[in-house]
Amino acid sequence: MRRLVLVVLTVGGAAIKPVVIIPGDGSNQIEARLNKPSTVSWKCDKKSDWFRLWLDTSNLLLSTECWADNIKVLYDEKTDTLSNNVGVETRVPDFGGTSAFEELDPSLPFHASAAFLKMVQQLVSQGLTKNSTLRGAPYDFRFAPSSAVGAKYVLDLKKLIEDTSAATGSRVSLVSHSMGCLQTLYLLNQQTQAWKDQYIEKWIPMSGPYGGTANEWKLHASGNSEGLPVKAVTIREEQRSYETNFWLAPVPQYFGDQVLVSTPERNYTAKDYPAFFDDIGYPTGKKLMERVLPLTSEVKAPGVDVVCMYSLGVDTPLRFLYDKSGQDGFDKTPTTINGNGDGTVNELSLRLCDKWTQAGQQTRSVKVVRFANISHSGMISDAGVLKALMSELGATADVIV
Ligand SMILES: *[C@@H]1O[C@H](CO)[C@@H](O)[C@H](O)[C@H]1NC(C)=O
Ligand SMILES: *[C@@H]1O[C@H](CO)[C@@H](O)[C@H](O)[C@H]1NC(C)=O
Ligand SMILES: *[C@@H]1O[C@H](CO)[C@@H](O)[C@H](O)[C@H]1NC(C)=O
Repeated sequence: MRRLVLVVLTVGGAAIKPVVIIPGDGSNQIEARLNKPSTVSWKCDKKSDWFRLWLDTSNLLLSTECWADNIKVLYDEKTDTLSNNVGVETRVPDFGGTSAFEELDPSLPFHASAAFLKMVQQLVSQGLTKNSTLRGAPYDFRFAPSSAVGAKYVLDLKKLIEDTSAATGSRVSLVSHSMGCLQTLYLLNQQTQAWKDQYIEKWIPMSGPYGGTANEWKLHASGNSEGLPVKAVTIREEQRSYETNFWLAPVPQYFGDQVLVSTPERNYTAKDYPAFFDDIGYPTGKKLMERVLPLTSEVKAPGVDVVCMYSLGVDTPLRFLYDKSGQDGFDKTPTTINGNGDGTVNELSLRLCDKWTQAGQQTRSVKVVRFANISHSGMISDAGVLKALMSELGATADVIV
């Protein structure tokens, strides 16, 4: 059921508190600079000054192999560390600002790659000021808090919240989407109650994949072209290498006995992840999975006033059928069986925040706002959702439900 909200705007209504936005996976720009000893093809640049690695659509489509080799992550099993590919430096533009996630590829006409553009515009129209009362926390979405880059992000985010609060003399509301909900949950779970009470007005997580998504197993097995006109297998190695593609993988304790992948030889549930990673020819995946599992899989209540928003009612990949066993069988695009969810995140994963409403979970307020038929990415641009978001942030004086 879509929530019906009748909004009555009142002149001089309560001012909206400062907001920090924490985006999801792939939802902000990343820049790179190259000085590589070698490349995968003569077509690729060895040297380059800073350029937009994510996202420059024409560059990605024209030289997918070069792009994949530049953005992939290296994992050193011996030292258990993750890093950029050799000769690649990366940085995230405008930390603290919103420009890196308003749109991903500003060179495209008609804001074709808009991400948080509408949300930012609405927050500004509600009286927030960019870089002052409206802040953004873009990040290198390839890394989870279990690696150096990801751990530094958590500290930077904490400082951004403290600085925003100090500069405005107010507590701060956090708005996160998708993997940004995991980042924020991780941060909040690390803080003392005193810190949360001092700095956090409210947290609004949208479309949080708390228990992971089945989709990630297709990505690890066959690659996922994410709607781009590139061959999935071409980017599979690059996608497998992101630490966050394990953070977002189905969490065994929640997916339980649900069969996620089937071949003529066997069915794999999330609990079978060691066999799954072995059989797809990526045994390293087991170690990467174990690195990230302790981060947020407990889905521990955040200890702040929280309004958990998500949508159900959209066909969402739940199970993948391969007609052939063995590694080359996984090279082929599987048949997808859908379940409920938001098109990307499965229902059981989105609904994990429902448990925070149960007695004994936390003493701060918890509200779940469930939408229908809004896609995962639609949750940050749909007019009805944004209206509800503004209202939860205190943008209107009177809200009649
Ligand atoms: C959502 O979509 C389903 C299937 O198309 C439809 O039956 C249902 O009425 C829709 N719900 C809302 C609230 O739009
Ligand atoms: C916010 O700050 C960044 C970095 O200092 C700057 O590039 C950007 O133009 C500022 N944005 C606004 C709207 O002032
Ligand atoms: C996989 O599970 C399905 C039921 O979900 C069952 O029909 C099938 O026989 C199983 N396949 C194997 C190889 O065990």
